[in-house]
Amino acid sequence: MACAARMQVVQGDITGLALDAIVNAANSSLLGGGGVDGAIHRAAGPELALFCRNLGGCKTGDAKISPAFRLPSRHVIHTVGPVWQGGEAGEDALLASCYRRALEVAAVNDVRTLAFPAISTGIYRFPADRAARIATATVASVLASDESFERVVFCCFDAESRRRHVDALQEVVNG
Ligand code: APR
Repeated sequence: MACAARMQVVQGDITGLALDAIVNAANSSLLGGGGVDGAIHRAAGPELALFCRNLGGCKTGDAKISPAFRLPSRHVIHTVGPVWQGGEAGEDALLASCYRRALEVAAVNDVRTLAFPAISTGIYRFPADRAARIATATVASVLASDESFERVVFCCFDAESRRRHVDALQEVVNG
């Protein structure tokens, strides 16, 4: 199936999605935080932080997998986005790496359906338009060469973020 047909934008709370995995916008400790990280840890229960304590943290741009415990999904793929520092510190490449590494970790764990939040666009202050273009282009490029993914969802927390991802995805599809 064409990669555009396998990508979807929705608006809502990522913790409510029942997929093979949801992606968490974590910090390098993997011990929880605010934003979507806080929501995922609250919904998953205390077992998540206990499990992640043994993962040895996560570098910016990398990704690690855990069970989802009380969440409706099977796994959580934790990735650490870049903090926006003006755009000259390699932030674009690091954000693209979050999406690419999360998909690599998904592929080796038989994850075929997964959802991403808008990584780095909250507390880490990455410009949301720029992030949406990086997110959709990176996912599209991976899906173009990997048929194993059935569905990748961009789960946006508000209407503005949803609109950004719809527009960015349209740009990617139109080429
Ligand atoms: N479902 C989906 N998206 C959500 C949810 C949710 N329940 N809660 C927040 N978001 C959205 C935000 O609106 C934003 O668009 O997730 C996006 C990422 O924002 P943050 O959660 O602030 O993540 P980020 O900007 O990557 O900052 C990461 O924040 O929570 C801490 O521990 C985390 O230190 C890390 C930092």
